[in-house]
Amino acid sequence: MRIVVFISGRGSNLRALLEHQENYTICHVISNRHQAAGLSIAQEYRVPTTVISWHDGAKAEAQALTLLNDIKPDLIVLAGFMRVLSADFVTKFSHKIINIHPSLLPLYPGLNTHQRALNDQQIKHGATVHFVDQNLDQGHRISQCHIRIGPEDTAETLAARLLSKEHKLLTTTVDKIATGQIYWQDKHLYYNNQVITQPLVWPEI
Ligand code: GRF
Repeated sequence: MRIVVFISGRGSNLRALLEHQENYTICHVISNRHQAAGLSIAQEYRVPTTVISWHDGAKAEAQALTLLNDIKPDLIVLAGFMRVLSADFVTKFSHKIINIHPSLLPLYPGLNTHQRALNDQQIKHGATVHFVDQNLDQGHRISQCHIRIGPEDTAETLAARLLSKEHKLLTTTVDKIATGQIYWQDKHLYYNNQVITQPLVWPEI
């Protein structure tokens, strides 16, 4: 399976994906920022990169589309990509774009998820891998991981604790898509040929 990863910054999820390439290949990385640290991680792994300025979203998407039509990836992974893709764009790649989001969706779509979970005095927090559709962070959920929130937690400690779990969640989910264990068919999510109605949770993550 050939995968294109979209990033905007640090790239720790990208690194996790690059480290676990057995059943898939990261064949290109697209960033909307020149300064994204993730670009040097891609270069470390000799993966071609393209920077597309997203100041004009329509122009950026047209550029990305030309590139993607050429690469023809099987899957696009948004890993810390901080731009919203248009309905028109995501419809062209229906159920072929996934995103990792640092909350237990449908709770806390958008930004500042850790602080919002703390403000609401949640005792549980987590991350979600989901398909990307035209509604921000609302596409069908594929998998989730959980962490407990303690009385001493801050947005920073939550972010740090969650991040290592995010890496495992994303790599496990992508690997299972690559091996055909997770797939989308006839408006349903399947795992090992069974329809799944709730996000997948793996006890070890
Ligand atoms: C992660 O927390 C991810 O869930 C969110 O953005 C962050 C990206 O981190 N969408 P990194 O660039 O992968 O290190």
